[in-house]
Formats: sequence, C-alpha cells, structure tokens
Amino acid sequence: MKRIDAAYHVRGEAEYVDDMPLPGEMLYAAVFASPIAHGKILTLDTNPASAMEGVVAVFTADDIPGQKLWGTIIADSPLLTTDEVCYVGQPVAVVVAKTQAIAQKAVKKITIKLAELPVILDPREAFIRGHIIGTPRTFVLGNVDHIWKKCHLVVEGTCEIGGQEHLYLETQRTRVIPLEGNAMRVYSATQNPYLTQSTIAQMLGLPCHQIEVDVKRLGGGFGGKEEQATLWASLAALAAWYVQKPVELVLSRLDDLKMTGKRHPYSSDFKIGVNKQGKILAYEAKHYQNAGAYADLSTAVLERTLFHSTNTYFIPNVRIFGASCRTNQAPSTALRGFGGPQGMFVMESAITKVAETLGVSREEIQSQNLLKPGDIFPYGQEMEASSLRQTWLEAEQTYNLAEIKQSIAHYNRHHFETKKGYALMPICFGISFTATFLNQASALVHVYIDGSVSISTGGIEMGQGLTTKLTEIAIKAFGIGEERIKLETTNTTRIANMSASAASATTDLNGNAMLLAIGQILDRLRTLAVKELGMSNPQKITIANEQILYAGEKTKLTWANLVEKAHLSRINLSAHGFYATPGIGFNHAQEKGHPFAYHICGTAIVEVTLDCLRGIYVIDAVKIVHDLGRSLNELVDIGQIEGGLAQGLGWMTIEDLRLNAKGELLSNNLATYKIPDIYFMPDQIDIKFLTEENPMITPYGSKALGEPPLMYGIGVFFAIRQAMRAFNSQDGFGFISPLTPERVLCELYRDELQEIAENNVTSLSLQPSK
Ligand code: MTE
Ligand code: HPA
Ligand code: MOS
Repeated sequence: MKRIDAAYHVRGEAEYVDDMPLPGEMLYAAVFASPIAHGKILTLDTNPASAMEGVVAVFTADDIPGQKLWGTIIADSPLLTTDEVCYVGQPVAVVVAKTQAIAQKAVKKITIKLAELPVILDPREAFIRGHIIGTPRTFVLGNVDHIWKKCHLVVEGTCEIGGQEHLYLETQRTRVIPLEGNAMRVYSATQNPYLTQSTIAQMLGLPCHQIEVDVKRLGGGFGGKEEQATLWASLAALAAWYVQKPVELVLSRLDDLKMTGKRHPYSSDFKIGVNKQGKILAYEAKHYQNAGAYADLSTAVLERTLFHSTNTYFIPNVRIFGASCRTNQAPSTALRGFGGPQGMFVMESAITKVAETLGVSREEIQSQNLLKPGDIFPYGQEMEASSLRQTWLEAEQTYNLAEIKQSIAHYNRHHFETKKGYALMPICFGISFTATFLNQASALVHVYIDGSVSISTGGIEMGQGLTTKLTEIAIKAFGIGEERIKLETTNTTRIANMSASAASATTDLNGNAMLLAIGQILDRLRTLAVKELGMSNPQKITIANEQILYAGEKTKLTWANLVEKAHLSRINLSAHGFYATPGIGFNHAQEKGHPFAYHICGTAIVEVTLDCLRGIYVIDAVKIVHDLGRSLNELVDIGQIEGGLAQGLGWMTIEDLRLNAKGELLSNNLATYKIPDIYFMPDQIDIKFLTEENPMITPYGSKALGEPPLMYGIGVFFAIRQAMRAFNSQDGFGFISPLTPERVLCELYRDELQEIAENNVTSLSLQPSK
C-alpha cells in the first residue's frame, strides 16, 4: 500500500491548522518575549501596543484566571512570566490584533525595563550552584569501586554534547474557536492533545470537557510538539476566551527558533576499566544535563539517558549518575531519542578511548562486550532480544567489514591530504514510555451500515506514517478494502486522556487499542454470521477480501450484507478499545524494574572521507542491518530509517547550536544553523532487515521504529575521528559534538594554531602523520 497521504502532500491538499476554512472575524495573536536571558522585571508597559489601531487586546499573566504555571512532570513553567525572565524568548505578553502584521508591529511597541541577573548556561556551573530540577538519579549494577584496581586499563574522559533544533517544517501554531456555553475548539499542531486540553482548562479554570482539541496532522514534530506545543496553544486560547472570537497564533520561523526549546546538551564524565582482552569490567558516567530554564520533560529525558547509558553492552559493574541542571536558555525538550542518544554517545566515547589507548580497533572492544539474551541492564531488566548480535554479525558479513577495513587502510597509506575512516555503531533502544502510566491508549471504531469504517485513535500523524500503518492494521483485521477505512482526526471528544504520540510507541499502543475495538465488533459479527449460515462455531468465521468464510470456505455472506444484517438485527457496530502494555513497571526507590516492553536493535557501519587540509568531510556510506520485525509498511519504514539517520548524522556533525555568553541564540536562522541536505547525505545507504515476528504483543508482529535509526548517526563522529587520527595520530582529540568541519580543522592543527596564537606566525608547514 502507498503511504496514505502522499497524494495529498504532492497536490498540496493535505490539511494543517492553517488550512482549516477561515472563520469570520479571525484575530491574530503575537507574543512579546523577554529580550534577555535572566533578569527581574521592573516595569512593563503594554499601553503603546493597546493604543494601536487594529489591536484588540493585550494580555499578561494577571489576566490568567486559573493556574498560571504548567508542565507535565513539574508544573514550574509560567504561561506568561511576571517578576522574572529566565531565558531569551520567554513569553511575557500576548497581543491580539485584526491582522498578523498589526499584532507583530504592536509587540514591538511594548517596552520592558529589566534588572539583569547572572546568566548561567553551563550545566556544570548550574549543578555546583545547586540549580537542579527534580532529584539527581544514580543507577548501580555490581560495584565499580571494587573493580577499578583489578582492571588492566582504566581511562577517563569528558564529553561535550550539543543540542539540536527540531526544525519541523510547520512551526508552532494553534487556532482557537470559541463555541457556545464557554467551550472552545482548539486546532493545534500538538503531539499531545490531552496535555493541550488540560493545560488550557486549568489555565481558564474550566473543566476539561469545555476544551476540544482537534489535530489532523503535523508538519513534523520530532518531539518538539510533545510538551512545547501546549504553551502556544494556551496563549491563543487565553486570548480567544477573552475576546470570544477565533484567534490564531503562529510562530514565525525566526521566533520558533528563538523561543522554543531544543534537544538537551550534555556535559558528561566517563571512567571505564577493561581487562587484558578488552572485556569491560566497570563503567562509570556522570551526566550533567542542560535542562534550560524550566522542568519541561527534562527529568524523563534524563531517565532515558540513564537507561541507555551502556548502549548495547553488558557491563557487570556500572554506576551512572545524572542531574537535570537549570540554566538560562529555552527549556530543553524531547527530540527523537529522548536523552538516549546522549547516553550512548558517552559510552561510545569511552570505548573509543579504550581502543585508542590499547591500539586496537573500536569494534574489537565493542564486539566482545555486546549484550546477549539474559544479560542484565543496570536498571534490572533482562535483555530479551537475540537480534543484537545477529545484526552485528550480519553487518560484518553482508557488508564485508574486512574488505572495508583493508581498502580504507590501503587508501590511507596512499593518501596524505585526505583520509578515510569507518565506525561500527550498534544500537539498542527500549520501547515504552519510561513513565509506565503513559503506556496506554484507546480507539473508537464505527462501522456504518454501508460497510465503511471510521476509526479514531489517540495517535497523531506527524509524518511518521501512523495513518498508513493504522489503515494497514485495520485492513488486515477486518479483511476489507482500503477504500472502506477512514482514519479520523485526533480529537479529545472522541478519545479521552491520550498519551502523547511519542516514544516510538504510537503504532504499538494505538494499533493494539484499535485491534481490541475491532475484535469486539468482529466477535459480534461472527456470532451473527454463524446464525445466518446455520453453523455452530463462530471461531471458524473469517473475512478475506470482503467475503465471509467458514472454515476457510466461501459462504453466501459478504462484508456488506453481513453489516447490513447486523444493523437490522440491532447489533452494536461501534466499539471502544483500550490497551495498556502488560508486564512493565519501574521501582524508583530501587532504580530497578522492567521499564520496556522490548528493545530495538541494529548495527550500522559508517564510512567517511576527510579532507585534512580543509576539515570538510564526505559521508561515503552508511550500511545498516536493522531488526524491523514484521513490517506493516516497508516503504514507510525505510523512510523512517533514512530520516532518522539524517537527523542523527546532522546532530553529530553540522548542526551547531551556538549561544553567546548573554544566552542569545547566535545560530538563529537557517544560514547559521545548517541541517543535512540531500548532498550531505551519503550516496550509499544500504539497509538490510531482520524480519522475525515480534514475540511481544504488537500489531501483527511489527516493531516500533521512529526513534532508533537516529542513533546509527552517532557512528559518523567516530568514523571522522578515526580519519583524523590517520592524519594526525596525536592523542587528545576531544569528544565534543557536533564535530563540524571547523572543529575538525582546529583539532587537527591544534598545536599549530596555538603556535600562531602565541608567536604571531603567519605561515604554516604541514607535518606528515607521525
Ligand atoms: N518522522 C517524521 N516524518 N516526523 C516526525 O515528527 N517524529 C519522530 C519519529 N519519526 C517524527 C518522525 C519521533 S521523535 C517519534 S517519538 C516517532 O516518530 C513518533 O511516532 P511513532 O511513535 O509512530 O514512531
Ligand atoms: N519517550 C518519549 N516521550 C516521553 C517519554 C519517553 O520515554 N516519557 C515521557 N514522554
Ligand atoms: Mo519523540 S522525542 O518521543 O516525540
């Protein structure tokens, strides 16, 4: 089956918030935001804005009738701030005007006087000062302290990991329509309709049933609309509620870049000990997470960093510490991988340092420490997947690693100015929300008398292909044609209390809920069918190609006439399904449990060529073996792997978020923040799938897929590093990402650059590799 909305996208017919028919008298909101990263508000003057022709109203925190603070995990974030500003771009006031242009002009007329306070951007500094969100966490397995002295080699190091901008094509936006009786309908680009609904309700002091949130699809979310879409929706709703007119709030690209949070930067320390053969005996990591100014999802993101801190390796003695550190930048938030990639990067850095110190290849250390089924993770769960080692071996064999290594060594012997490098990147990612209670979903299925089917779930289509996959599942479950099935918008009046579409679990959770609903309807239809056919065993009824079969044999009944008969027999043709992932849980006091339903595994080989004179590089190839399970739609899955990979490669290489010391975002547009384009992507992306059915309860044996492929991209860092070392074998390149061409150049010529700085040298001579 083709991706369901592909034609709409190509023809420009796909509906987003902006494409809803324009209501009469629509007003437009714009946000006045803090110009500085930290300060006390002395005075705020909104009068010049209010006085402008075309401005309808200006709102501040004083206008919020209900709860002024919000947040899923810790409600510490002001919808509009009053006394203090804590990051550049923090909302202070909302202007509503007749046009967007007037609203934006009016925002510029608002004046604010601030007393500047110290700006903290470094998570370690925040930690030392005690600016910590939630409580620091420590996961322990075995006892590292007893082991260090038994190790053949112990090395330590530090990692600096950059953030990442989501860069969804559709910026944050919401349109709010006031309805009778103090109710409102909210069209919002949110991954989390229930959070949006409940936050608006609490802000206005209304019951949730007064707020209806409706989502057709997003122009990308990538985690950036899991928590943060709700702020903008709430501000639009505040305005609409007061003026009782439709209000739309759309962030311009530049405002979106400035005002919204990004992936968490981390500053981490590692210590790793191995025996003579390279078996890892002990690993310790300390993660200082740059959470930004408010809690957002940071503590949950940190938790996933801890869960994935040992990536794909079994290590008998582990101690992982993590703290969410409050800084003066926009609250960091979910972004594909949700803290997992940061934990994995530090692990891979530690392994790299061991390999470099011992003078062996990275994969020699990696391969002998790979998890086996039955191995225990530091958080107490047993590794269940046997596919990890299989993907590793298949990657080695299918892509002929020995030959890759040989040809790279040969190339490097014969080239001085350019060098090649490669890295293996195995991944293991836990599937389930780490907060167990979020692993629930529901679905509402109606069969109409004409045999057509309407399906609502709590899942959001954000480009990942959810609607296509849910449609595939419904086709299989009912045994009817694609044209009979319609996936409805995601709406809080049809589906209550949904979890965010996130954690790669949207198809698993909502697909299972939908199957439970469909199952109820089919049970009723089967009972009717045997009655109609004069048979006895409803279990022998199946439906294929819209034909009703008994024991596999065609009967006189079709889907269409069975449904019609059901209605005439007063049989319920609607059902609600509810699914909660069984068997998962976590004990926070002990930091042990079984948080994940299962793990996703795979292995990638990343190959690069580095221009050692310019620092620029080309990603030659990425070769992946991925455990996909039984695919619901292989084309959609390939798209997710390639897209995730692009995002991972970009994060590690060219996506360079820069703030100045005042906390102002310097990479605040697409000229200074570069993301991978088609030219940056490798010419060769090979993907091989393992296709064993998922033994866990998932729709038709499929496996979650959305986030894991991003983590293959981490390999590019170590491939480039290897090429750097082939040119200049000095010790001491940093584990600092992103590894931009500029950084490569500075690292390659660190000594020379230092000499220039110290002695005012004007010319350089290059030394061949030592
Ligand atoms: N793919 C597209 N095209 N757009 C997106 O916004 N989000 C990613 C991933 N793939 C995203 C995407 C993230 S962060 C997650 S958690 C999953 O999709 C969510 O969808 P799923 O649970 O259906 O995999
Ligand atoms: N992943 C993604 N989003 C989340 C999670 C998670 O584990 N927990 C809460 N939101
Ligand atoms: Mo994805 S970061 O879980 O929205």
